[in-house]
Amino acid sequence: MNVNSIVRHHPEVYAAKPCLGLLSAKGFIIVMLILLAALWSDSLWARDISQASGNIILDASHGNGEAWGKRNCSSCHIIQKIHKNVPKIKAIVDVKGYSTCTGCHGSNGLKTERQCLICHNAKDLPLKPVRGGKHRHDFNAKKDLLTTSGQCVVCHEASDMNGVFDLNIDLTVFNDAIVGLQPYANKSEFCLRCHNVNHQQKKWPITSQSSRNQILRAEDHFRKTDAHGGVDGDANGFYNGFRTGSYAYKTIVDCSDCHTSHGTQNSNLIIENVLQGAPLLSAEFRNKAYKVTLAGDDYSDLCVLCHQMQTISDGGDLPTRNGLSGVHFSEGRNCITCHSHGEEAQKGL
Ligand code: HEC
Ligand code: HEC
Ligand code: HEC
Ligand code: HEC
Ligand code: HEC
Ligand code: HEC
Ligand code: HEC
Ligand code: HEC
Repeated sequence: MNVNSIVRHHPEVYAAKPCLGLLSAKGFIIVMLILLAALWSDSLWARDISQASGNIILDASHGNGEAWGKRNCSSCHIIQKIHKNVPKIKAIVDVKGYSTCTGCHGSNGLKTERQCLICHNAKDLPLKPVRGGKHRHDFNAKKDLLTTSGQCVVCHEASDMNGVFDLNIDLTVFNDAIVGLQPYANKSEFCLRCHNVNHQQKKWPITSQSSRNQILRAEDHFRKTDAHGGVDGDANGFYNGFRTGSYAYKTIVDCSDCHTSHGTQNSNLIIENVLQGAPLLSAEFRNKAYKVTLAGDDYSDLCVLCHQMQTISDGGDLPTRNGLSGVHFSEGRNCITCHSHGEEAQKGL
């Protein structure tokens, strides 16, 4: 247990610290012994074991095996007495009750469906995640299905819900036929464990053949052809330049910088608001919540969030629909004829 967690678990101890100087050496040792005893008893709590592994999902060792497969959490855990170290979680669980338990701790060996939307809805946690219109990543490109907790669990199998997004805890680590359970280095690697031609996840096969086949070919396109994936830019282009304090040449742009899984009015799951993507832009800029609307295949609202040409030419001074400026053809044009996934000419996408 590190110092931070001591402070976090024992605010009363931290507050007492300045008084230590007034104590004798003997008094100091006694205080330390009391502190150690407190820590020791704390470490007998199961929560430390689960936290240390970053895993709050129950397994067969739950309650020494006695509690595994039991349905009624209430028969052994009193809601008011748990979660003292996680006030944000305590607040919401106290209100929503026992139907939330499986959301964070798993199904405890039963078939019970895990609940996410009971908390992750527009009313209770409106920014976690930021939602939008009816198109969402529901694993069916042809239909707009209703959001279910089951969809969330596919991508977030064992989130620790600590308010910090950790790639390899908060996203499901899919076992891949080529790289196995290798941790993700970025968010795109997560998407590419499914969006590829020959090593897809068997449980979530990709059947649709979109016109550009990007749904299937994303891996090859993104890694080998796209300017935002594997191919590095050089800042010597006609329209080069980025918005200050944001992206730079050779930054890998993740799929989720442009696409959202959590709902948007835009086709192709393109973000409808800067708050849904482009996380490397400055907080000040993002907080202005610029909208992204598409007009046919005119994607300028999206591109202009990050790109801002230094030397103005070809309409770069004209405002896009969201009021920003700095991309060429911003008076409105079909961008896709020259910029789409896998397109090598004109530097593609
Ligand atoms: C038969 C009694 C019993 C039932 C029913 C029960 N538990 Fe437990 N649970 C225990 C015991 C005993 C422990 C270990 C002591 C402790 O930390 O409280 C425990 C520990 C836990 C822990 C901490 C585990 C860890 O590894 O850190 C969680 C989380 C938990 N239970 C959740 C649940 C949930 C959710 C349910 C309902 C699906 C449930 N329990 C039902 C007895 C029970
Ligand atoms: C939003 C996620 C979330 C939900 C929902 C949730 N828990 Fe927890 N639970 C946690 C986290 C995180 C911890 C670890 C806390 C810590 O480190 O002290 C935890 C710890 C526990 C523990 C270990 C002892 C303790 O006091 O912290 C028990 C027991 C437990 N939960 C039971 C439950 C039960 C029963 C429910 C349903 C009423 C529930 N949890 C719902 C996230 C959740
Ligand atoms: C196709 C996979 C996928 C699905 C389905 C999905 N998510 Fe996500 N989620 C992600 C990715 C990738 C991120 C990180 C990038 C981002 O924030 O968009 C994320 C981020 C999040 C965050 C953190 C947001 C933040 O700003 O810190 C929360 C909370 C979340 N998802 C909850 C959910 C819930 C609830 C559902 C079900 C309604 C869900 N997700 C469905 C992939 C998914
Ligand atoms: C009891 C309410 C509750 C339930 C049920 C719940 N969550 Fe959360 N979740 C939270 C809270 C609270 C946070 C932390 C928000 C914050 O502090 O920013 C969170 C955070 C997250 C995050 C962001 C990453 C992180 O570590 O903070 C993801 C992803 C997430 N939850 C997914 C899910 C999924 C998937 C389910 C269902 C399997 C689920 N949640 C069920 C309350 C809940
Ligand atoms: C678990 C596998 C899996 C993961 C992980 C995954 N996808 Fe998908 N994705 C699918 C499936 C399956 C479809 C539906 C294909 C179909 O209908 O044939 C799909 C569809 C899509 C679509 C088209 C959706 C529509 O409704 O038009 C987009 C865009 C997409 N995914 C992007 C992403 C992005 C971006 C990520 C990472 C944040 C991601 N996917 C992660 C399996 C996955
Ligand atoms: C989230 C920020 C972001 C968004 C949104 C974005 N880009 Fe980019 N773009 C970048 C970054 C960063 C690079 C540099 C990548 C590199 O060097 O590999 C880049 C590079 C490029 C390049 C190659 C430039 C060169 O000199 O090689 C083109 C072309 C491009 N983007 C077009 C677009 C278009 C078209 C859109 C809208 C559909 C768009 N971008 C949206 C961040 C973004
Ligand atoms: C006729 C083809 C064509 C069309 C249509 C087109 N572009 Fe471009 N775009 C280019 C060329 C060529 C470049 C410069 C590549 C270079 O610098 O080598 C470029 C570069 C870019 C860049 C990268 C700037 C940088 O950092 O280097 C952005 C952003 C961009 N275009 C946005 C758009 C947007 C938004 C649209 C639609 C409104 C659009 N383009 C339509 C041909 C096109
Ligand atoms: C710079 C922004 C940007 C990034 C980064 C990006 N995309 Fe796209 N994506 C777009 C745009 C714009 C379109 C629409 C034009 C096209 O089809 O090429 C699109 C289209 C798609 C489609 C087609 C959806 C459909 O329904 O036909 C899929 C699937 C997709 N992207 C997946 C991905 C995946 C997976 C990644 C990461 C490996 C990714 N994208 C990275 C901007 C982006």
